[in-house]
Amino acid sequence: MRPILYLATQNKHKVEELSSLLQDHFIVRDLSTLAITEEIPETGATLVENSLQKARFIAEKFQVSCLADDSGLEVEALAGAPGVNSARYAGEPKNDQANLELLLKNLVGIANRRARFVTVLTYFHDGAFHSFEGEIQGEIVEAPRGSQGFGYDPIFKPENQDRTFAEMTLSEKNQIAHRARALEKFINFIDEIQKCADE
Ligand code: IMP
Repeated sequence: MRPILYLATQNKHKVEELSSLLQDHFIVRDLSTLAITEEIPETGATLVENSLQKARFIAEKFQVSCLADDSGLEVEALAGAPGVNSARYAGEPKNDQANLELLLKNLVGIANRRARFVTVLTYFHDGAFHSFEGEIQGEIVEAPRGSQGFGYDPIFKPENQDRTFAEMTLSEKNQIAHRARALEKFINFIDEIQKCADE
């Protein structure tokens, strides 16, 4: 019997991506079955802090096993910005299109387009927190391309690829993306624990 795992995120795209990758290991639940009226706080100075904060919020409120994700895009020529501010780069309210346009504007005339997506996952289970990081290197293209995905997907082209994330299907993106890479580490961890329990 697969254990239940709550996803500590209110982002529908992330629920979709994470659920498709975790369904063999867990019965995956989003937060709709828990009574949450407020936004999960995200006030840390780093992705690691935010990821831990989200997992802790759900763990302390509901005492359930959960997985939180905090991700961001780091652009080399912008000293790692938007980074932890990726969701609100262009200010409040969150707006993916405005964020992407501001990033392209801030890179006008800059030759170095190197960037990376990073994800930090935090798993809470049995009173302990465990974090896992995944990244993918790539570059920011000159103009948006594609209509899949979300966020900065239309302007991020992973290294060794011809297409942006937004020109890939979800399953193509999941084979190489930051979130999938962090999840692979998480799943290896789960498998190890299971092996120990079986011995
Ligand atoms: P958070 O992890 O919910 O704080 O997300 C941070 C922001 O990073 C999102 O709102 C997106 O703008 C961006 N982001 C994170 N992961 C991705 C991705 O896979 N594709 C595109 N943008 C992403």
